[in-house]
Amino acid sequence: MSILFTPKKIGNLEIKNRFVRAATYEGQADEQGRVTNALIDRYRKLAQGDIGLILTGFMYVHPLGRAQKYQTGIYNDDFIPGLKKLAEAVHVEGGKVAFEISHAGRQTEKALIGQTPLGPSHKRRDPTYFIKPLAMTDEQVWEVINAFVKAAERSVAAGSDMVFVHAGGGDLLNQFISPFFNFRDDDWGGSDEKRFRILREILERIRHSIDDAIPILVKMNCNDCTPQEGMTPSLAKKYCAWLADIGVDALELTSGVKFYNHMNCWRGEVPVNETLRSLPLWKKIPGWLKMKMTMEGKYDFVEGWNLEDELQIKPAMFDMKSFMVGGLRRIEHMEEIVENGYADFVCMCRPFIREPGLVKKFKEGKKEASCVSCNRCIGGVLNKLPTACYYNGLPE
Ligand SMILES: Cc1cc2nc3c(=O)[nH]c(=O)nc-3n(C[C@H](O)[C@H](O)[C@H](O)COP(=O)(O)O)c2cc1C
Ligand code: SF4
Repeated sequence: MSILFTPKKIGNLEIKNRFVRAATYEGQADEQGRVTNALIDRYRKLAQGDIGLILTGFMYVHPLGRAQKYQTGIYNDDFIPGLKKLAEAVHVEGGKVAFEISHAGRQTEKALIGQTPLGPSHKRRDPTYFIKPLAMTDEQVWEVINAFVKAAERSVAAGSDMVFVHAGGGDLLNQFISPFFNFRDDDWGGSDEKRFRILREILERIRHSIDDAIPILVKMNCNDCTPQEGMTPSLAKKYCAWLADIGVDALELTSGVKFYNHMNCWRGEVPVNETLRSLPLWKKIPGWLKMKMTMEGKYDFVEGWNLEDELQIKPAMFDMKSFMVGGLRRIEHMEEIVENGYADFVCMCRPFIREPGLVKKFKEGKKEASCVSCNRCIGGVLNKLPTACYYNGLPE
């Protein structure tokens, strides 16, 4: 039997196989961030597909940390009943689920949160939203720390099998731990230790407040791919040892910062037409030029594009279980990754958008996911549509 179908434990939590559905924004909460029946159905279907562990799309821990209009919220206890139904739908089918908790920081729009977004520093106007964020006060930093801890407690109360903290992909925690975004010279910046401190405070408090039996997973960048140095494999390696020391059970390394250049996060075709459709009139020409000049042809699909960076970092993972993500498509390649000990689990995002039942198909002999990395699903997100495979085009 393929190693991919063997179980593996993370702490006391047994995952029935090595397939993980990578966190995927769904675009199916209501405008207040509440779970809908459509969202529950999505998770039921994924669990019926025999995926070992399902990571949800990012859920915002604070109203100012919201990134998308139809994103799921987890910032107060009123969200718990809906989230419970979501977890139950997975558990009934014999699956495991982890809610990804996140704060967008500066990676959001003024119009969505009603004010200038927050960030570590009032620096670097970004090329997507064209904003310089408000630098967070000490009080606001503590408010965010508290919001993460409360969200972690809520996720466990609602049935999430792990606590899953998003510190990658360009969101707020990524912004704090990265020297590209964090120019502070107080307790939250100025050295690697201080930039990392917000994440440390959150994780130590979570570890202390939740049952030891609940494992903690962190998603962190091994490379920000920003114009100047941000997260790099060597910095990620340093942080990785600190995460292990705090008692984090598992780590998913990813790369790219969406609001600098979203193709860094994905690879494959640039969804030019779909992106243009999402832009207001005044942004269409600069948007088209940016895609033509800086993206097209430069981010062709690479199978397992984070592998090389991850191998540099792996020695610092100690006992943490490693999750690999980014361009995993072929069963033989994934087997090689797990058999060689490069990772314990293999995560896929877009393949499960196209084929929620992919693991079952693999079991029946399918060799490769059908996703062709055209990235029109991302075009769908940009147009505020529910996340789906839009290979045949977006609906009118
Ligand atoms: C439509 C879409 C939504 C995504 N949403 C999230 C998310 O909510 N949280 C997150 O950490 N990553 C998110 N990602 C990134 C994926 O988890 C993954 O890291 C990336 O797509 C690379 O994996 P793949 O090649 O298997 O698609 C998203 C990706 C896509 C395409
Ligand atoms: S639209 Fe479909 S085929 Fe294209 S990248 Fe997304 S899931 Fe894959």
